[in-house]
Amino acid sequence: MSVWESRPLAAGIGAEIFGLDLSSDLNADAVRYIRQALLTHGVVFFRGQKLSEDQHIAVAKKFGEPEVHPIVEGTEDRPEIIRIDKPADEPASFGTEWHSDNSFFARPSLGTILYAEEIPPVGGDTLFADMYGAYDALSGGMKSMLDGIRAIHSAKVAYDPAGSAGAKFRGEATLKYKYSDAVHEENAHPVVRTHPESGRKAIYVNPMFTLRFENMTDAESKPLLDYLYQHSTRPEFTCRFHWQKGSVAFWDNRGVMHYAMNDYVGHRRVMNRITLEGDKPR
Ligand code: SIN
Repeated sequence: MSVWESRPLAAGIGAEIFGLDLSSDLNADAVRYIRQALLTHGVVFFRGQKLSEDQHIAVAKKFGEPEVHPIVEGTEDRPEIIRIDKPADEPASFGTEWHSDNSFFARPSLGTILYAEEIPPVGGDTLFADMYGAYDALSGGMKSMLDGIRAIHSAKVAYDPAGSAGAKFRGEATLKYKYSDAVHEENAHPVVRTHPESGRKAIYVNPMFTLRFENMTDAESKPLLDYLYQHSTRPEFTCRFHWQKGSVAFWDNRGVMHYAMNDYVGHRRVMNRITLEGDKPR
């Protein structure tokens, strides 16, 4: 019997794992246990951890290859760590829209490991959406219409200062952006993505980075995309995580969207984020 325990947060998504110190316990059995829990629950949470930046990187390397973001600057010494430091007087926030991390990459991030250093006394939760459950609940007709079509993803709206919605997502004072060509790059991915390990199908579009369906205009795409966003974020497909200092969340971007609540102005929130290199969605 395992010494570790997973307690689901909701029927479809999210589980808290107990009995593991990520800084010292990650032997092969523990890594296998976490991988399996991630496949089952989409996002797993740990409480009471204490991770230096190097330990955070070491944890990430047990599960994949940490990547350096082409647009958002990492810390000076460890470019693979993005420090999401939102001061008390900063109204703008990072991640405050449903998204799958870096879906605009040709090979979007496999997973994300987020570590809470400083948490507001109230607010600052993160919401997660189960895109497998959302796909399963579609009608047969909608599934067959979506299977086989692709959507265009790009950072140009979310991260481009010239983009009309740019300011909505940018936390100018909290994060530094490198305005490379990656901002304007467009990549087409299947609207229904098959997880390479579990074989499960998930809806793979998100309102932060998906622009339109391939070979369709924005206007033609919008009604169906809006429907898919509204459907995927129905409360029964979501869970909500209330952070404490030392909490860690590890989510699988291949089948999960997330949304960072921006409801704590007047308090600081500091998170360290590492994303793992992913594969080409199929
Ligand atoms: C993110 O979108 O990657 C950050 C989520 C959060 O800060 O809760």
